[in-house]
Amino acid sequence: MESESITSVLKEKRIFKPNKGFVREAVIKSRAEYQRLCKQAEKDPEGFWGNLARELVWAKPWKKILEWKLPYAKWFVGGKINVSYNCLDRHLATFRKNKAALIWEGEPGDSRTLTFQDLHREVCKFGNVLKNLGVAKGDRVAIYLPMIPELPIAMLACARIGAIHSVIFGGFSALAVRDRVNDAGAVLVITADGGFRKGAVVTLKEKVDEALKETPSAQKTIVVKRTKSDIVMQKGRDFWWHDLMVGASDKCNAEPLDSEHPLFTLYTSGTTGKPKGVVHSTAGYLLGAMITARWVFDLSEIDTYWCTADIGWVTGHSYVLYGILANGVTSVMYEGAPTYPAPDRIWEIVEKYKVNVFYTAPTAIRALIKLGKEWPLRHDLSSLRLLGTVGEPINPEAWIWYHEVIGKKRCPIVDTWWQTETGAIMITPLPGAIPTKPGSATLPFPGISADVVDRNGKSVPLGSGGYLVMKKPWPSMLRGVWGDSERYQKQYWSDIPGMYFTGDGARRDKDGYFWVMGRVDDVINVAGHRLGTMEIESALVSHPLVAEAAVVGCPDEIKGTGIVAFVTLALGNPPGDKLKDVLKAHVAKEIGQIARPDEIRFAENLPKTRSGKIMRRLLRDIAAGQETVGDTTTLEDYTVLAKLRQEED
Ligand code: WTA
Repeated sequence: MESESITSVLKEKRIFKPNKGFVREAVIKSRAEYQRLCKQAEKDPEGFWGNLARELVWAKPWKKILEWKLPYAKWFVGGKINVSYNCLDRHLATFRKNKAALIWEGEPGDSRTLTFQDLHREVCKFGNVLKNLGVAKGDRVAIYLPMIPELPIAMLACARIGAIHSVIFGGFSALAVRDRVNDAGAVLVITADGGFRKGAVVTLKEKVDEALKETPSAQKTIVVKRTKSDIVMQKGRDFWWHDLMVGASDKCNAEPLDSEHPLFTLYTSGTTGKPKGVVHSTAGYLLGAMITARWVFDLSEIDTYWCTADIGWVTGHSYVLYGILANGVTSVMYEGAPTYPAPDRIWEIVEKYKVNVFYTAPTAIRALIKLGKEWPLRHDLSSLRLLGTVGEPINPEAWIWYHEVIGKKRCPIVDTWWQTETGAIMITPLPGAIPTKPGSATLPFPGISADVVDRNGKSVPLGSGGYLVMKKPWPSMLRGVWGDSERYQKQYWSDIPGMYFTGDGARRDKDGYFWVMGRVDDVINVAGHRLGTMEIESALVSHPLVAEAAVVGCPDEIKGTGIVAFVTLALGNPPGDKLKDVLKAHVAKEIGQIARPDEIRFAENLPKTRSGKIMRRLLRDIAAGQETVGDTTTLEDYTVLAKLRQEED
């Protein structure tokens, strides 16, 4: 990290206040109420979180709210609790017993609804299945499943018996599965005969077979029959889910677990090639996921809520599953591709289930923009009352499209900033209380001590860019990196003394709003000015002909770093040299000459991770004319790289 501050040039002046009708019904209704909560949390953080935690059902009360020995926090020390109990059993004594917990839609059009009672029964049975196979408290269980109901059932069953789940995204390769299983020392892999995506079958079991050749700890699998594909079941090693469930009892005690017992590990990539297993706790994580879900998504008893994220990512853990069910709210889950069989599948599902709250990623929004607004316009989206985004900065033009075409200018948008490591949303508008500005995640959640600082940890003045940090521990923070405390210390607690460093650059405007500029390693230094690549991208995307853009730095003899922009055009627009000049001029106009791209390259597609993040690292190599040396195991479509290289020739 370098010490000079980051030059931020994005200027966005539009501001949107929540409408009165929304405010009247909102969970948090005013800026004053938000500020009151912030003040309470500031004055007495332990009291603040402790009060909220009392709503959960505890098997044994805690003795101490927080024990903080930097960089290790323990929350609700001495308490015992069970996450599955709090997501399920707690609701069974209320009218929610027969309320839908999960509404699931398969890609081929099949569907399943599980009430809280149904889900509870399945979870208890599967908890017994795990125990019968010898899985014990503290054991790690790898889950490599498509987005089918068995995925949340398996997770909640692990949580019930105290096994630590480690969900591996269904798009990962056999090698990635092997490495994750080995790193966690998992004793069992739960998988399926396949999953449906874009009308085809995604194979899973074959990859597990391949992985299991080199996973000494894991020598058993449980296989869900989903696609009826032809797979090999190895006797004594592979067991069908449905066979094991037949004889399983539906009585399974929710194990009282230490507050700090790990609930799960989840692998995420860092700056090095080796993925790290982020560890989350039981009580603190549950509290964070539950409270943020309620206040940010403004959840009420009658809401039907849909988060489009795959459960293989943290967003799915916290906001398809735990945070939503802990509130007793109905969660919609969809198996397949958002544009299959037609580009309006998403909107069809919204209309079918009358979804009220919808949470997705900017990359999905941009993809949908590219397909044209006639698709959403075919559907009745009037059930929607709140929209959310997560995963990367949303460029203001995409924000406005989301607001106008999907939200019909009626629904507030919550742009939520957080990370796998934070467990729960950290910077976000509370939709009834905080006016929004397109592209800004606005303000910290009450109790979250976010700041923008320089290298030494000193707050930078409003308006200047710097490093996004957290100054105090929070309940849902990661508890470490699985098996690697050194990496935990080094990655998060070493760059800036005494604080958690997020890896992101940010700026606060004169109203204190946070503008996240992306990863600090996505920041480029052009002629002594540091620019967030996202800001240039945002300028490019604001041009009507541009669908998506990725900007990287490239060695430049004179300026140190030059700016190379990879641009995907909106459908039907032919690329050409003249357009390159137009776009360069457009960026210069939007931001200034300093940000004018030196080179524009048109590309049909950009290389992305399976969670939709553009892999700038790969683009940097291409821009510099180098062979890619880094890890590409998370790349979604390998052919994109080859095509980008061809375009060079
Ligand atoms: C980025 C996803 C801007 C950021 C929950 C962060 C965002 C990383 C936003 C974490 C947002 C996430 N605005 N940037 N609203 N949300 N990010 O671990 O760079 O997959 O550090 O967690 O995504 O990604 P992760």
